[in-house]
Amino acid sequence: MSDCWYIPEKVEDPRAENRLTPNVPGSYEKLAEVNVFYKRYDPNEISDDVEAFITPFLKHINYQHFDVVNLNPSVLGEEKFDSLASQHFEEHLHEDDEVRLVIGGTGYFDIRSKEDKWIRVLVGPGDAVVVPAGIYHRFTTTPEKNIRTVRLFKTNPRWLAVPRGPKAEETEARKQFLKNISSPRETVCGTANAYDNNVFTFRFPLEMDNELNKVMAHYATTHKGDQPLVAIVFVMGSVDPLTGKSWCPPCAEAKPVVNQAVDRLRHKYGAGNTLYIELPVERPAYLGNPSFFYRKHPFLQIQSVPTVIVSHLKRSTAPTSPWYELLEEKLRTLEPEVNAIASS
Ligand SMILES: [Fe+2]
Repeated sequence: MSDCWYIPEKVEDPRAENRLTPNVPGSYEKLAEVNVFYKRYDPNEISDDVEAFITPFLKHINYQHFDVVNLNPSVLGEEKFDSLASQHFEEHLHEDDEVRLVIGGTGYFDIRSKEDKWIRVLVGPGDAVVVPAGIYHRFTTTPEKNIRTVRLFKTNPRWLAVPRGPKAEETEARKQFLKNISSPRETVCGTANAYDNNVFTFRFPLEMDNELNKVMAHYATTHKGDQPLVAIVFVMGSVDPLTGKSWCPPCAEAKPVVNQAVDRLRHKYGAGNTLYIELPVERPAYLGNPSFFYRKHPFLQIQSVPTVIVSHLKRSTAPTSPWYELLEEKLRTLEPEVNAIASS
């Protein structure tokens, strides 16, 4: 995937880039949220001997068949190409994973994000994509009208598309897909975004305030007892789900330190009184962007990542206030250290 970006709901020319103004980039993480798998292979490795490359690959993923399709009017004829192109561009789902390896030309997968927005994914030679069963998506070539793709099949080769609508919603694949993406994400500290575990991960800066207003209002109205309620905010470079590594090496080093400190605070104040809020920052949105939301945010005002902020809930502020007005900052550090965090 050389690039991906959000596109509007309606487009005049499907093969144009159709970026929003200003451009809103997509990301691996947004795609991973809806269980889309992506991997790039060296196109030279695939070379002309597709079978030699694909056979062990099929074995590895326990698939049985593959075929190679050329979407190109000079191969298919204009009429067949146009008919297939409009079929592929109709929003649909499949009851099996759609597994594709691009070996020539370029195309766009349009994939529905968790928020039901279109993310356009540019694919070219070497790109392998798994569009999971049950997700709404569509496909088009770029203006070059040429793509050569290996299609991989678990059992028999088939391409059955169910157009978006009540029938698609009733499929087992759709139900299973929705179940998979709505299940809470496991983090090193427990299940994310579940009040009971007091661990929160907000991947989208623009949604973070709304969500944290709800979270903090909940705790401000329910928190009682003698111990303070502690909130640890960890702003860090996001993790590439393919490699499991953060793009920011100091963040990767800081994470176990912060987790250890959170554990110490849980012992000290009680798990129910310790909130861990992780705010992953995506590299393209952050690097070289002085207006990045977390830099300008009235509370976060980050200078760099990683940033750790430890705060205590104020008892006197109205729960309807913005979340950060309910907090009193105790410690802010760019170089997290277990003892310093645990004693704050
Ligand atoms: Fe499809």
